[in-house]
Amino acid sequence: MFITLEGPEGSGKTTAVDYAVKALEEKGYQIVRTREPGGTPISEQIRNVILDKNNTKMDPRTEALLYAASRRQHLVEKVWPAIKEGKIVICDRYLDSSLAYQGGARGLGVDNILNVNLFATENTFPDLTLLFDIKPEEGLKRIAANANREVNRLDLEKIEFHNKVRETFLDLAKRYPDRFVIIDASKSREEVAKATLEAILSRLCK
Ligand code: TYD
Repeated sequence: MFITLEGPEGSGKTTAVDYAVKALEEKGYQIVRTREPGGTPISEQIRNVILDKNNTKMDPRTEALLYAASRRQHLVEKVWPAIKEGKIVICDRYLDSSLAYQGGARGLGVDNILNVNLFATENTFPDLTLLFDIKPEEGLKRIAANANREVNRLDLEKIEFHNKVRETFLDLAKRYPDRFVIIDASKSREEVAKATLEAILSRLCK
């Protein structure tokens, strides 16, 4: 089982999934929790290049290819082996982030980015994608309130960029209704956490 978490910055996905993972482990499920870009030493090195605030000259296609490269390495080293061992992999961000950020918001085209990613992932789609949906203004407000979180190069984009990210995520949920579940991330922490656990459990019981 391969589960991915998507949504804008400050949507609270990490907190919600911490709760769900704890509950699932108590039920005896073996979970591998990971994130993109990153999750393996090579992928983390690529992540540092992508998110470095000093890399203001990065070309959008370079950015898209670096995300895809990081994704590929992470699949090979971490995701595929864990799935083979029968574990549940829960990954913070995956290919839908590339479709929304690079394809939609950067304007490279969702289908162009999909093609690059089909090559990189050998057509590996998640079984379940949880979309933590919240208005960008609210998400960004939460980030600003969280002193522990470092601001990255993509956080610094204008609000129109983040609106386009959200719009593309919602389009993707319509395009792939079988794997997408939308979680209303504007609700309280407890409600979001409960909805997350319920969505995962109902997919596991299918
Ligand atoms: P991160 O600090 O992990 O953000 P978050 O906590 O919001 O998940 O930074 C990842 C950033 O990279 C985030 O702004 C989204 C962006 N991103 C893309 O633009 N394309 C991608 O394919 C992925 C995986 C992430």
